[in-house]
Amino acid sequence: MESKASAPGKVILFGEHFVVYGVKAILCSIDKRITVTAEKIKENKILIKSNIGNLELEPNKDISKIKSPLKPFYYLANKIIQNKNIGIKIKVESEIPLGVGLGSSSACCVAGAAAISRLFSDTPKEEILKLAIEAEKTIFQNTSGADCTICTFGGIMQYDKENGFSKIKFEPKFHLVIANSNIKHSTELIVKDVKSFKEKNEDEFSNLCKNEGKLVEDVLELLKKNNIKGLGEKINENQRYLETIGISNEKIRKMIQIGKESSFGAKITGAGGGGCVFALTDDTNLNETINQFRNKNYECFSVKIDLEGLNTF
Ligand code: PMV
Repeated sequence: MESKASAPGKVILFGEHFVVYGVKAILCSIDKRITVTAEKIKENKILIKSNIGNLELEPNKDISKIKSPLKPFYYLANKIIQNKNIGIKIKVESEIPLGVGLGSSSACCVAGAAAISRLFSDTPKEEILKLAIEAEKTIFQNTSGADCTICTFGGIMQYDKENGFSKIKFEPKFHLVIANSNIKHSTELIVKDVKSFKEKNEDEFSNLCKNEGKLVEDVLELLKKNNIKGLGEKINENQRYLETIGISNEKIRKMIQIGKESSFGAKITGAGGGGCVFALTDDTNLNETINQFRNKNYECFSVKIDLEGLNTF
């Protein structure tokens, strides 16, 4: 018997990094997905196949010694088959570019947790989310949990560490144009850099957190009114805060400039240091914005907001 699950990637619209320090963030899931197929096997082994490589290991290995990016799957399979004398075979198929801030690892953790656990029981989404966050911690110990949460529940949501998430009721009339710098980043390292920026600039950082918190509250109002121009201005303001904490670079600044030329606003999404930027558009400036990026040879595509989140088959 096979169990299949698919989870969407995500864009952090507002509040990355500040969310680590308790500020509210706004995220949405996107219509690019990861699908995981899990199957029980007789042999007491964990086999993982994916388009970035394969991993084949006996159960009960020390997780900290595993260097593969596929280790969250190993963690999940190993946990779920404890005291059961069987193995698990996992296949991973992805439409989400890897390591560029679009939630590929969280979508893997969520779809992996769902596909594997549902081989044994009908696990509720809340339980799957807990498992997924545990798995994500094998690659990034200090995750805020925001990414796995949006990949599980989908749509647009506000999230903060203390209160968790709540969905924002909103009919999205906008498009997001995503451009990839093709510079892979390590979220863990960039979060560490931000921590040292904070430690050297406590007052400035605390003001930035206050400003970001206020910005997010304004955004919640603008979303209610579907005020795209206003949202664009907030996107540009958020980008200035991200510049201040040092997660941008020359290439990203160029891309933001290109994005801003015809869209309502553009910013980094995710950890930064590379990864992706997004530009906010509606029907009137969508094609123009895509063309601006493509004319300058940037990999670029538009995404819609996914309203489903995790799906199981
Ligand atoms: O790993 P990314 O690029 O999807 O972004 C992580 C978002 C951070 O706010 C930087 C970290 C976190 O755990 O929320």
